[in-house]
Amino acid sequence: MVLITLEGIDGSGKSTLNASLQHALLDLAPVFTREPGATWIGEQVRRAIADEVDPVTEALLFAADHAAHLDSVIRPALAAGKHVISDRYADSRYAYQWATLEGVLPDPLTWLRQVHDGWTVPPDHTLLLVLPVEVALSRKKLAGKREHFEEASLLARVQENYLRLAGEEPSRFVVVDAEMEEGELASFSERLIREWCGSSRSHRRR
Ligand code: TYD
Repeated sequence: MVLITLEGIDGSGKSTLNASLQHALLDLAPVFTREPGATWIGEQVRRAIADEVDPVTEALLFAADHAAHLDSVIRPALAAGKHVISDRYADSRYAYQWATLEGVLPDPLTWLRQVHDGWTVPPDHTLLLVLPVEVALSRKKLAGKREHFEEASLLARVQENYLRLAGEEPSRFVVVDAEMEEGELASFSERLIREWCGSSRSHRRR
């Protein structure tokens, strides 16, 4: 079983991609999940995002949600031999909270990694959607109300952080051009995920 994560800035098209994958990968029956999660802890996190709590509180809430997510979804699914696809995961913390904690803590990334150290489950593969920040924001504008993360300068730093993380672990990350046409992006991602899961449609048909 493999743990696959989808990452990217707001407006990168993760949700649309995720919806297509849920349909396309039905035969693999992976567990689709997300962070912030669906537990009551995830609800508190969403409330914190809306209320704009201080960045350390916010980072720890996201980390608490991750712990609950691991306990209630990720570990049981992997233990049951299922593939897991998570829309956002620890790299969201490393990319977003690295940016929001800049100037608050001396070395945010090291701190964030220490917070996760010893209990998180590292992903096997990560699909990182990358696109110009203005394009991402124009998509969000069309979609309506913005959260405080959805500002150009912050998203630019977040995307830079994502790319730094990908540069550190090139064997885990696949960086994808999120401006690719929607269907093309979905079929490219589907192929990649099938490869990662050691299964392909043609192989299964034989
Ligand atoms: P989400 O609901 O996934 O937003 P979207 O559907 O736009 O991707 O996440 C809400 C916001 O929370 C989003 O701006 C990313 C941010 N976020 C963090 O800052 N840190 C985290 O650890 C996670 C999981 C999300």
